[in-house]
Amino acid sequence: MKLVKLLANLGYGSRSQVESFLRKGVVTDTEGRVLGSRDFPPHAEILFKGEPLDPPAPLTLMFHKPAGYTCSTDDPGDTIYDLLPVRYALRNPVLSPVGRLDKDTTGLLLMTDDGQLLHRLISPKHHVPKTYHVTLDRPIEGHEAALFASGELVLRGEDKPLLPATMEALGEKEARITLEEGRYHQVRRMFAAAGNHVVELKRVSIGGLALPDDLEEGEWRTLGSTELAVAKGG
Ligand code: URA
Repeated sequence: MKLVKLLANLGYGSRSQVESFLRKGVVTDTEGRVLGSRDFPPHAEILFKGEPLDPPAPLTLMFHKPAGYTCSTDDPGDTIYDLLPVRYALRNPVLSPVGRLDKDTTGLLLMTDDGQLLHRLISPKHHVPKTYHVTLDRPIEGHEAALFASGELVLRGEDKPLLPATMEALGEKEARITLEEGRYHQVRRMFAAAGNHVVELKRVSIGGLALPDDLEEGEWRTLGSTELAVAKGG
């Protein structure tokens, strides 16, 4: 890959903007030498305005999604991309959320530009469990866990039953629920089917990867290969 293409793919600008940056001398190596379009030192040695470049693809992030942000790139309101560096919304390949969370859902969201990984984590065929902490409007009645585990629950407007899911009551109005699929508003619709209403929803883990206690709402960090293997259950 050429330097211009690399910088454009990382979202630093269009190719012509990047060429102009190169002409202005803002792209240097770690020794301070100005780089031109024919130079291509190792990634770790390239600086843009004195700062190390963003990580190359494949890139996977762990993000603690706050409420009030959608997972869409084209939503006119607040989106998760507003909480990341501006360039991250412009990367090629695109950085996509691994299974969207609703606007009001909080918790663990992975974002990746690795299509194979994305597929492995969201396809029900791969049985990667996603666990949510649920706060309910009304007390749990006791029949919900069996209903969700039955493999026979059909959500309103659908004809294919849900895969069995595990629910554990944590308190009168609190539960932990684990799913291996991610249909639209699934947890909220499951509790609605059981006669209740979800007041708060937080994803606490994906596969073996739990939301770390020290990752505050709105914070994110890149994921290493070991953590990725854990998320996939490997
Ligand atoms: N289920 C939902 O209802 N909403 C989410 O955001 C995730 C799972």
